[in-house]
This record gives sequence, C-alpha cells and structure tokens, in this order.
Amino acid sequence: MSILIRNIKELVQVEETPQSWVAGADMSKIKTIKNAWLLTEGDRIADFGSMDDIPTDISADEEINANGRMVFPGFVDSHTHLVYAANREIEYIDKIKGLSYEEIAERGGGILNSAKKMAEASEDFLVEQALVRLNTIAEYGTAAVEIKSGYGLNTESELKMLRVIKRLKELSPLQIKSTFLGAHSIPLEYKGQQEKYVDIVINEMLPKVAEENLADYIDVFCDKGFFTVEDTDRILEAAAKYGLKPKIHANELDYSGGIQVGVKHKALSVDHLEFTGKDEIASLLASKTMPTILPGAAFFLNMAYAPAREMMDAGLPVALASDFNPGSAPSGNMQLIMAMGSILYRMTPEEVINATTINTAYAMDLSKEMGSICRGKRASFFITKEIPSYEYMPYSFGDNKVDRVILNGEVWK
Ligand code: NIG
Ligand code: FE
Repeated sequence: MSILIRNIKELVQVEETPQSWVAGADMSKIKTIKNAWLLTEGDRIADFGSMDDIPTDISADEEINANGRMVFPGFVDSHTHLVYAANREIEYIDKIKGLSYEEIAERGGGILNSAKKMAEASEDFLVEQALVRLNTIAEYGTAAVEIKSGYGLNTESELKMLRVIKRLKELSPLQIKSTFLGAHSIPLEYKGQQEKYVDIVINEMLPKVAEENLADYIDVFCDKGFFTVEDTDRILEAAAKYGLKPKIHANELDYSGGIQVGVKHKALSVDHLEFTGKDEIASLLASKTMPTILPGAAFFLNMAYAPAREMMDAGLPVALASDFNPGSAPSGNMQLIMAMGSILYRMTPEEVINATTINTAYAMDLSKEMGSICRGKRASFFITKEIPSYEYMPYSFGDNKVDRVILNGEVWK
C-alpha cells in the first residue's frame, strides 16, 4: 500500500536525518517545505519534496489532493494515565472550592479514589473505555502515546492495568509504550509505614511485571507527601535489574530531589518539574534525561508553572505532554497542550512543535520512528483543515485543526 499526497500547503517538521532531540536555542527552529508532496510505502514515509520538482513518473495506490492544507507529523504524547475506571468530576468541585491536591489526597480522594474504582473494574471494561480515549486523541492528531499503570496500588490491580495496556498495544493503531507506576500513591493501610508498600512494589509487583513482560518503563511519584528520594532510589535500582528505564514524576509539589534521583538513574525523562531551580537545571544539563512539562496538570490544578524559558535559555531541551488522567488533567488534546505551552509558558510556535514531536519521541525511545517527517520513519501524520499558517496551531486554542489522519501508512480518518 502506498499513498501520495499532493499540493500540501506546508509540510511541517521535516528532517533529513533524525535528531535525537532539539535543545536550547535550536528549539526555536523548525524545517518546513512549502507547496510539497509526500509519498508513503507500506507503513513508512518513503519520500517528499517540493511540488516544483515532483518526479513525473511518481505514482501510488492512493492519491490525496491536500488542496492547500498542511501536513504535520503525528503528535507524540509521552506521559498519560489514560487507563482508568471512572472520572473524578466530583472532586473537581472540591478543587474549585479551594482544597489542594494534597488535601484531597489526604481525605482518601485523588489517586486512592481511582484505585478503589480500578479494583472493581473488569479488564474488558477498561479496554473498551481506553479505546474510546485513544480514538479521541488520534482524532486530535496524536500518533504515539505512553500509558502508565498506578491506579492499582496492589499487585492484582497493577497487573490488571498493565495487561489492559498490553491489549491496547495490539488493538490500537497508535504506537503505545507502557510504564509500571506501582509507586503512584501510598495506600491508606500503609500510611506511616510506606517502606512496607515500597517492599511490595519491589519484591512482589516488579518480578511479576518483568516475568509477563508487561512494562517498557518504571515510574515513581517522587514528591512531598508521596514517595521519598530513598524510596525512589530503591525502586529504580531494583527495576534496573529487570532492564526497566525510569520515566518519573518529579518536583510537581516541591523541590523533592526527584529530578536529581532520576538523573542519577539515567531516567529517559523526568516529568512535571514545577519546582525546578538552578541545582535541578545543572543536574539535567549533565544528563541525557528529557525534561518534560505537563501544562494540562499545572493549568487544571492552578499551580506554579515550570520555568520552561529558563530551562531552554540554559540550553536544555523541553518536551510537553498531556498527562491525560481523571484527577489532574482530564484531556489528551495535544493541540491544547501546544496552546498552553505558548500562552502559559511563553513558548513560540516552533518551540511547542519541537516539544510535542521530536522531544516527546525521545522521551518514549521513538526518535527513529516518530516525531518528524523523515524518510524511513513511520508514516503516521495528519492533514490539517484549511489553516493559514503553522503558527495558527497553538494560536487557535480549543478547536480541532486536524482533518484527516494517516497512521502506519493507512488512512485512518
Ligand atoms: O501526573 N502527579 C501524580 N500523578 C498524576 C495525577 C493522577 C491523579 O490525580 O489521578 C499526575 O498529575
Ligand atoms: Fe502523571
């Protein structure tokens, strides 16, 4: 199967050779081709160029006339919790009335509330619900997504969540990576003796996760009121023995030491980062860890924003992901994340494009597969509606600018 797309107003985020990430001042640059064509072969991008010199003998099984609409690579969303049993809109009202994230958690709400619902949900029900969410994010242009466990908080439920993610990998045309987040919250019965719960994560859950090959990565919520640096250190060390690389929740609620312990364990990414100062930036600069900001959660929880500009000025890369989850970010719309990146973090359109494509692809070990329009990469991209410029993407917040979606070289929508 091959597809030829002609008359593309602008082919956005083009690469000749795939870069692993874009950092510092380079984040403000992207390459595009105006008036372009694009050819797929099987599930790969075969070739592209300017309509001015399109080969005369070019042909394909299917032709699409983009008619002046643009093409972007599919978004890569490197941090979500989109397998969950129920929404939490009632807690949202507590939040509006002024209760903090930690206060809600202390009352047995928050993640523990999701864990209660998770325990009652069947695998089939969870798969069905998650597939609806995956279809919705695909309609908004996402082509690859990381999904975490972490609403189980006991061995049986954590394994159930990871098995659900494994089934989603088979059922969905999106590229999916799974992350074991047994250390997401401390179950009430372990309050005051959380090291016992950490023992269970390490000695009971991890071996089973590894035996069934259920996870690509390991995550820990390393923050004030959740897991300590020592807990995190122990879990990441144990996970390394099973070959699980860390992608951790860090510095959302405080200068928790999460960034440094992540870097120490060569984390692929550290995520949230609201509390990032000079020491954290210095630690990241000496690492290959992708700093990932989750604007949806900071917006929804009304929190301080991570210092994206300082990080880029220091020469760091920045990635933006959705954090799609029922408690702190009930949306997986990456176009909205781009808009938030621009409006709330003062990132330019080029910076938010790099942050949601090439840099999030790095944070999922997908640099060679996704994140740009590049020969040999996976043919997963979208054709926009009629939009005047790529800058319009983060500008027009809330609207879906995606018209057609091609995933793995096949027309999906
Ligand atoms: O990334 N910060 C920790 N975990 C999630 C919240 C999950 C929830 O509240 O359900 C997050 O925001
Ligand atoms: Fe999260």
